Amino acid sequence: MNGGAVATPSPATTVGDAVAAASAILAAAEIEEPRREARLLVATALATDLAGVLGYPERRLEPAEATRLAGLVARRAAREPAARLLGRREFWSLDFALSPETLVPRPDSESVVEAALSEISDRAAALRLLDLGTGTGCLLLALLGELPAATGVGIDIAAGAAATARGNARALGLADRAGFIVGSWAAAITGEFDIIVANPPYIATGAIAALEPEVACHDPSLALDGGSDGLAAYRVLAYDLSRILAPGGRVFVELGEGQAEAVEAIMGAGGLRRRSLHRDLGGIARCLVLWHG
Ligand SMILES: C[S@@+](CC[C@H](N)C(=O)[O-])C[C@H]1O[C@@H](n2cnc3c(N)ncnc32)[C@H](O)[C@@H]1O
Repeated sequence: MNGGAVATPSPATTVGDAVAAASAILAAAEIEEPRREARLLVATALATDLAGVLGYPERRLEPAEATRLAGLVARRAAREPAARLLGRREFWSLDFALSPETLVPRPDSESVVEAALSEISDRAAALRLLDLGTGTGCLLLALLGELPAATGVGIDIAAGAAATARGNARALGLADRAGFIVGSWAAAITGEFDIIVANPPYIATGAIAALEPEVACHDPSLALDGGSDGLAAYRVLAYDLSRILAPGGRVFVELGEGQAEAVEAIMGAGGLRRRSLHRDLGGIARCLVLWHG
């Protein structure tokens, strides 16, 4: 699990050889799909895309490229996620920049976007959106991209996350309809919203150390740690959601595996009723939809 073989790369290495050597190191580090990841790292080191790797196996690496590649492979072999190495991640077919204070957006969270869109009958309406625990802003910005007249606010307690989300809104051309603020859940919110999305931290504190190192060591604990039973953030959210949900509005909360019943009960005590439950591609109940009922 070390990057020794590429730590001192020969400048004469070809692209094809570099992919093979990187792939062997990643395989030894038990990285899934090592060849695919190796190609991605070579492309990053060469500042090209996959076509620039696959189409030119005989091209020789410049010394600076080989040094860059050695660094990337060593970091990946030490289980730093590829998205962190690249500093970006695709979500809902949009490109999101990351920072140390943001979670890497997960494909499972696209269930929240899908559920929200499935509940909106008029996508041209001037809906007011709120994203609690916005991170990169991926949920809010994916929705704003689909709802041309909507406006939204994203909140995060991590100032670095709010700043990253703001940058992502600018890069996606959505900054005129999205505002980002630093705060704790909905405590400072006074208005009403038609669509509220939230993907709170929901891992039980004691379970975090057992997660893959890519998650446990590289995602911020503020984005993971849901307290002793994983449900602490839902309890806080339940106090406020009913107050800030507009009549006829909907709340979409992401769930950890097996949490649907407990979260429904917590939200029920806060005054909101279950409207539906959406499963992710793995069949896990991932998004609970709530309303005034
Ligand atoms: C699981 S991450 C979700 C990030 C993003 N919405 C996504 O789906 O990828 C949870 C987010 O909640 C934020 N957070 C944690 N505690 C918070 C609080 N008290 N108030 C607001 N945001 C909080 C974290 O900083 C993190 O960005």
